[in-house]
Amino acid sequence: MKNTSKTFFSCKQCNYETLQWLGRCPSCGSWNSFIRQERTGNRTLYPKNEKENHAQPINGFRFNEEDHRFQSGIKEFDRVLGGGVVSGSLILIGGEPGIGKSTLVLQVANQLAKNIGKSLYITAEESIRQIHLRAQRLSVNAEQLFLLSETDLDQIIVQILHLKPKIAVIDSIQIINDSSIPSTPGSVNQVKNCTSRLMEIAKKNNIAMIIIGHVTKGGAIAGPKILEHMVDTVLYLEGERFHSFRLLRGIKNRFGPTNELGIFQMENKGLKEVIDPSAILLSSRTLPIPGTVTTVTFEGSRPLAVEIEALVSSSFLNNPRRITTGVDYNRVSLIIAVLENRLGLQFQYKDIYVNAAGGIKITEPAVDLGIALAIISSSKGFAIDMNTVVFGELGLTGELRAVGMIEQRLKEAQKIGYTKSIIPLENARQTSSLFDNLEIKGVYNVQELIDIMKKK
Ligand code: TYD
Ligand code: MG
Repeated sequence: MKNTSKTFFSCKQCNYETLQWLGRCPSCGSWNSFIRQERTGNRTLYPKNEKENHAQPINGFRFNEEDHRFQSGIKEFDRVLGGGVVSGSLILIGGEPGIGKSTLVLQVANQLAKNIGKSLYITAEESIRQIHLRAQRLSVNAEQLFLLSETDLDQIIVQILHLKPKIAVIDSIQIINDSSIPSTPGSVNQVKNCTSRLMEIAKKNNIAMIIIGHVTKGGAIAGPKILEHMVDTVLYLEGERFHSFRLLRGIKNRFGPTNELGIFQMENKGLKEVIDPSAILLSSRTLPIPGTVTTVTFEGSRPLAVEIEALVSSSFLNNPRRITTGVDYNRVSLIIAVLENRLGLQFQYKDIYVNAAGGIKITEPAVDLGIALAIISSSKGFAIDMNTVVFGELGLTGELRAVGMIEQRLKEAQKIGYTKSIIPLENARQTSSLFDNLEIKGVYNVQELIDIMKKK
């Protein structure tokens, strides 16, 4: 229940309210963060002032949404947004420091400046000099692209209203400071407040805003998570630091589909769109090697062929290692348990490493069969035919469950030259008549899988 007494204390970091002063905030854990506050005014059931804002029937409104969508021309970016940036919308781009957020957004701002007019890039972290150097490297030189180095929110708003750009970029929200708020930049209070003020400016003036937020692992500084519910669209830029792939993932989108994935490659002239991701995600091996198998996964609306690699080796540890990169750890543990239980394979003295090649992260269960086969293949020491793709979800009893979007997966496999597939029996029944040059082998459970492997 909300307290109603006159004085109370609130946490500078997270707004937690209490009647007594506390040394440590029970909600966010920060020390010495409570400040005394007075509650002003009485709450009444019926408000006194009536505003000139009336509800209208839904059919009374007329909008033409497509007029308000701006394409940057960077297709991977536009697609993740559902076809471009919607004017007046607030887009949050999160990601770890150094992953390429500033690079991507500078490229986008440049393209939008060329296509639709004034774009304003507000840098709070880097100097104009630094941005300028990066811009030269990226060949960013649109006439309508403006730069501003500023951390004070009031100044930023003044400049935005003065310039009236079509799009404004804030890099990054964690450094912006609203001087009317007592807490430090980067705290939950500041970040939330600055975002909501920027949001108001965006909506009232029909300016699209891209806000960059660092994802921090410590949690002491406010990450983009706390802003997700406020903004219209949330995108995360991900990737393995030592791989050149960068994945732009849609998490939330009020104006289009979520779970879309844009794929880029970080090169020395910035982020480049990857037109045919499957071809790149597959390693260029020329000989069949035990432990590798190709699967087709779905990211948003797009099929992607990915290579799964597994290594099963003798362990000298009491608790053998299970290490995964790009695939879900718990899923791999489950698959190992199923293989032990249903096939009688022994893994208790084995270290198992499973890896999705190319630095991609796969979350859907259709990858199960790929993981299972890679592990079997590595532990038994036989290679899986290089022209074969596999996919299917594994149940606890060892049976293979049908997966969705089967035709698109098989088409993608065929497109990049695969000639054989091993898929759940139910899926095979639906599709076997649809493909001419692709051998489709339906499998009911993992036991059957072993029989097939033995015959080969
Ligand atoms: P940056 O956009 O500054 O990351 P963020 O804003 O997310 O912190 O990108 C930083 C990394 O990108 C840096 O390690 C260097 C690399 N990079 C390139 O490889 N090529 C380029 O053209 C640019 C501009 C950066
Ligand atoms: Mg940056």
